[in-house]
Amino acid sequence: MNQITESMTQFMNNHPNLKYIFFGGKGGVGKTVMAGAAALWAAKQGKKTLLASTNPVHSLSNLFEQNVFGKPVVVCNEKLCYAFEIDTKDTIERSKLEIKEKINWFLKFADLTTKADDFVESATMNPAFEESAMFENMIDLMFKDEYDFYVFDTAPTANARRLLGMSKVYSLWVEKMLKSREEAKSLRELLSYTKKKEADPLMDYLLNFKDRMSKAQGLLTNNELTAFFFVTLPESLPIAVITRFINWFYDFGIPVGGVVVNGIIQKNQVAENAPEFVLNRVAMQEEHMEEIWKIFGNNVRAIIPLFETEVKGAKMLNRLVDYLFV
Ligand SMILES: Nc1ncnc2c1ncn2[C@@H]1O[C@H](COP(=O)(O)OP(=O)(O)O)[C@@H](O)[C@H]1O
Ligand SMILES: [Mg+2]
Repeated sequence: MNQITESMTQFMNNHPNLKYIFFGGKGGVGKTVMAGAAALWAAKQGKKTLLASTNPVHSLSNLFEQNVFGKPVVVCNEKLCYAFEIDTKDTIERSKLEIKEKINWFLKFADLTTKADDFVESATMNPAFEESAMFENMIDLMFKDEYDFYVFDTAPTANARRLLGMSKVYSLWVEKMLKSREEAKSLRELLSYTKKKEADPLMDYLLNFKDRMSKAQGLLTNNELTAFFFVTLPESLPIAVITRFINWFYDFGIPVGGVVVNGIIQKNQVAENAPEFVLNRVAMQEEHMEEIWKIFGNNVRAIIPLFETEVKGAKMLNRLVDYLFV
């Protein structure tokens, strides 16, 4: 049947321990505005909420008409609602330094006289490095655990999925590294006749890293704590994009919270003699709504109208809250 069987509010009530939510979808469909509205709503429920953007290109300051770059700031006069654009450049610089230290230590350990700089450049010059820095930022926030509820405004979703897939890849990689480190270490211990255990910062680092990754994966695949919502417009491309994403997420065991349909033209506001392009658009949206019900059915959580202006500032955001959480 073409109606919502579990609304956003009902979903939240059915998942009272929910703590980490994400909004994914094609660019421009309304992920950031939904994330903003969800954060406001959570704060209104009495939860200390953090809306964090890990995108290198931020849009939260624009959304709230307030500068939220670099540190969490209360937004919309909602005292429990904080927004925060993370400085990715800064994180990347810090990660580079950290890696440089590790590589230097390793070179010394291996009696190599090569300078670390070349290694660092090649290790950090690829796009995956920026993504992993963003991922680290995100899990840092999660582990610090200073808020009751987190909304992440993630990069356009191909990255979001990769970001999460990465925690699995990381684990595998670290597993391998650890194994070869352990072998090397026991060999050294065998060769040096003493039984004394050597300090091994690289091993410690890998162990610590592995712990962090498996902890992150544990949180992100826990369907009581985490939910990914997907935003689409009633148009073919955005629908195709989230259909693909949702299947990937199921494959990865990442909890899918449901689908938010955005940008519906209110039919009762369209006069019969409206311009043809408007009438055509309404008809097109109706067709795509059929498709949405067919594909996502019980996973549709909310249907949001196309507003007369963009969604920006406290007043519009509060209006959106009322539609997202009817
Ligand atoms: N229901 C809506 N009605 C009117 N404008 C909207 C609506 N939803 C989103 N917008 C506007 O569309 C643009 C894109 O939304 P945004 O949340 O930034 O998308 P995304 O984060 O997915 O790229 C913004 O200017 C936003 O204000
Ligand atoms: Mg956005």
